[in-house]
Amino acid sequence: MLLQQQALLRQKLLVLGSLAVGSLLYLVVRVGSLDRLQPSCPLDGSLRPPDAGQILLRSLQFKRVLLLHELRKGNGTPEQVHLRDPEKVHLQDPEKVHLRDPEKVHLRDPEKVHLNAPVQQLPRALIVGVRKGGTRALLEMLNLHPAVVKASQEIHFFDNDQNYARGIDWYRGKMPFSFPHQITIEKSPAYFITEEVPERIFKMNSSIKLLVIVREPTTRAVSDYTQVLEGKERKNKTYHKFEELAVDEATCEVNTKYKAVRTSIYTHHLERWLHYFPAEQLHVVDGDRLISDPLPELQLVERFLHLPAAISRSNLYFNATRGFYCLRFSLLFNKCLAGSKGRTHPAVDASVVEKLRRFFHPFNQKFYQITGRTFDWP
Ligand SMILES: *[C@@H]1O[C@H](CO)[C@@H](O)[C@H](O)[C@H]1NC(C)=O
Ligand SMILES: *[C@@H]1O[C@H](CO)[C@@H](O)[C@H](O)[C@H]1NC(C)=O
Ligand SMILES: *[C@@H]1O[C@H](CO)[C@@H](O)[C@H](O)[C@H]1NC(C)=O
Repeated sequence: MLLQQQALLRQKLLVLGSLAVGSLLYLVVRVGSLDRLQPSCPLDGSLRPPDAGQILLRSLQFKRVLLLHELRKGNGTPEQVHLRDPEKVHLQDPEKVHLRDPEKVHLRDPEKVHLNAPVQQLPRALIVGVRKGGTRALLEMLNLHPAVVKASQEIHFFDNDQNYARGIDWYRGKMPFSFPHQITIEKSPAYFITEEVPERIFKMNSSIKLLVIVREPTTRAVSDYTQVLEGKERKNKTYHKFEELAVDEATCEVNTKYKAVRTSIYTHHLERWLHYFPAEQLHVVDGDRLISDPLPELQLVERFLHLPAAISRSNLYFNATRGFYCLRFSLLFNKCLAGSKGRTHPAVDASVVEKLRRFFHPFNQKFYQITGRTFDWP
């Protein structure tokens, strides 16, 4: 029985191996020579203008690599994961199988094998915000860690009443499959600013780890505005200028009713969270630094989550064209975030920027005090 399995496994590895070699050859041919073998950005739609046949080949290539990667991370569909399951168990626990009589293990403890089967686990950590702070980048970067499995979609379980009414099993059902030693992380930026969310999360798991990624508040507000503006432009709709929204025309004061302004008053929201969770359970990530120099920020998060340090320099490479880091999961699997994530902001009147900075200043001071993290925000 076991021998058969081993033979099967060897066969599978052989197939995987030749697949990898094939992919590598493909890359070598594509790029020309090995020393020019640069990581590619398969997610970027605007690479080169190859002919249709090449596009097809390329996307097939990418999907295959992506699938292998998703399987490794436990992000595959249940069927995909189960296909691979015996292998995983075997690779993970060679001692268990070797030390004992393999047949006895198999006959006596069928559950033993199932102990290691992938299951859908509720998140042990949540990226709760903030919008435009870099939540997607943070989630994707943490996903480099072998013990982290991400929920790819924003589930909006705690902030959307309809979803919340569907219950915790619905939420668990939205989670990727993962192994017991792995932790699941979900992100929905609206959690941070939604009134009911902290209490609801507390009811699910009062000791869950919370991550909040923030950027300089005025920049974040403009970024927030830009995203809405681009949505309007896509629909050929006109939209107010940022200055008109951010400053109350009648009083010339900052318009605190404007959502992009309110979201940037981080302390305002944070205090609501601290009614439920102690400050130690919440870690603040510097979103500006995550973009300019990600590794130290990721290492702080690893420590906060009690994960062994596994993300290294070799997982991140800077793409000068994008002005942004790309992620290297393996020799064959790289990922750059979608181009729209680095969109350019409209020019904003300097006096309005100054007004906003002055407005946010006292809130920022309070934020530093509460979180124990100080930023060089103006
Ligand atoms: C860097 O980004 C540019 C523009 O998005 C892309 O064309 C290029 O392939 C990327 N290079 C690498 C090495 O990822
Ligand atoms: C709650 O979250 C903590 C921290 O991630 C974790 O150790 C614990 O197992 C979780 N509890 C449940 C019931 O999921
Ligand atoms: C927007 O306007 C342009 C130019 O008038 C037109 O070509 C395009 O189809 C419009 N798009 C939508 C979504 O209406």
